[in-house]
Amino acid sequence: MDKRKVIKAALLGLGTVGGGVYKLAARLKDEMVYKTGAELEISKILVRSLGKKREGVDPALLTDSWREILEDPEISLVIELMGGIEPARTYVTEALKAGKNVVTANKDLLAEHGGELLNLAQEHGCDLMFEAAVAGAIPIIRALKQGLSGGLITEVAGIVNGTTNYILTKMSEIGMDYEDALAIAMEKGYAEADPTADVEGHDAGRKIAIMASIAFNSRVTFSQVYTEGITKITAKDIRYAKDFGYVIKLLGIAKKDEDGIVVKVHPMLLPEDHPLASVRNSFNAVFLHGEACDDAMFMGRGAGEMPTASAVMGDVIDVMGNVVHGCCGRMGCTCYKNLPVKGEESTYSKFFLRIQVKDRPGALANISGVLGNNNVSIAQVYQKKSENGIAELMIITDRVLERNFNDSLAIISGMSAMKEISSVIRVY
Ligand code: NAP
Ligand code: HSE
Repeated sequence: MDKRKVIKAALLGLGTVGGGVYKLAARLKDEMVYKTGAELEISKILVRSLGKKREGVDPALLTDSWREILEDPEISLVIELMGGIEPARTYVTEALKAGKNVVTANKDLLAEHGGELLNLAQEHGCDLMFEAAVAGAIPIIRALKQGLSGGLITEVAGIVNGTTNYILTKMSEIGMDYEDALAIAMEKGYAEADPTADVEGHDAGRKIAIMASIAFNSRVTFSQVYTEGITKITAKDIRYAKDFGYVIKLLGIAKKDEDGIVVKVHPMLLPEDHPLASVRNSFNAVFLHGEACDDAMFMGRGAGEMPTASAVMGDVIDVMGNVVHGCCGRMGCTCYKNLPVKGEESTYSKFFLRIQVKDRPGALANISGVLGNNNVSIAQVYQKKSENGIAELMIITDRVLERNFNDSLAIISGMSAMKEISSVIRVY
């Protein structure tokens, strides 16, 4: 071990994840030598503000100059943990062009520019790894790219946003307010700097785009994903869902059939006995179905300092092994098909509809008539005792074409008996 190889790396970013990676790399120092045959040296750390206090970090490593890292020929690995598209896209591009391997946790970047960056990595014989970009510590990227690559995957459904799962769990189990639960998720470091991306489903949308691309070997970008967040989910929806035997979860879903791919993120009523229904708090889980592999589920911590650092370090160790064995760039872009991504209107779903109607003869008959005329079949219906002349009506439909359901909703909302459409949530 005397002449051990030293692999020099630069960290871009020293926030929640970067800080975790810095600490974990120190703890794994000797382990890495046994696992890869090389030693890792973090020789530079790029940050935005040099003046910020950073406990336990040697200030001599800090820099605010990307060029200093790019132009250092000894640095062969760049670990990008800044987030956002720019300047991350430019830095990753320049690093790959300079022959440096890249590990990143950046789903924003991968979900829009994954194709171009993976091709660039291949062109330059470099590794570009991004396990931490989806579902934190769960090794789902590797599972899809390697272990399940013969599984003939047809469906990927995931709880892939820790913040929203935490909020929905707390609202459902202890009646916590949405705002209070979000504040705790932010304090614990699960949420993005701007939590809009979490609660509006954009973060989950990026992750499902990445997973769909790998699972179906066909590029899906975030802009092709239909997204709906959890901001309209009320305590009442959660209570009624429970009465019907469901829990509400924010799901990213990707399905493939002979016509193409459907990729969506939205809240869903999930049957209480579905494996994803028991995934609580900030935990993530990905449920898969394949013609060959059948059903499989992966569960673990999807966010936070150390779980995310764990996934990043898994990639770092892999890259180091490849450097030692001279086989970087082995795993490039796996999107060799070009399948169409279908719009949500032409897909099929079951719906839960909660509406307030004037309690008068024929109101329910008229509503069910409109649904029937539009080919929307009702599976379950429940009407609460009316208060002040207003009755609350809950309807669960069978699997229907979304366009037909939306057409009926447009007619129902214009009916004279209609007071309010309170909720429309898809059902698994
Ligand atoms: P963060 O806490 O906001 O940290 C960002 C770091 O990047 C900070 O150290 C910041 O420097 C630095 N930075 C930002 N812009 C920069 C720029 N233009 N130039 C130089 N440095 C810059 O973010 P995070 O939560 O660690 O997330 C990092 C990445 O991991 C993101 O892509 C995120 O989506 C992904 N991720 C996060 C989690 C999680 O649980 N947090 C989980 C999975 C994936 P200063 O310290 O000087 O401000
Ligand atoms: N904001 C994300 C979440 C972090 O809540 O899951 C992990 O990507």
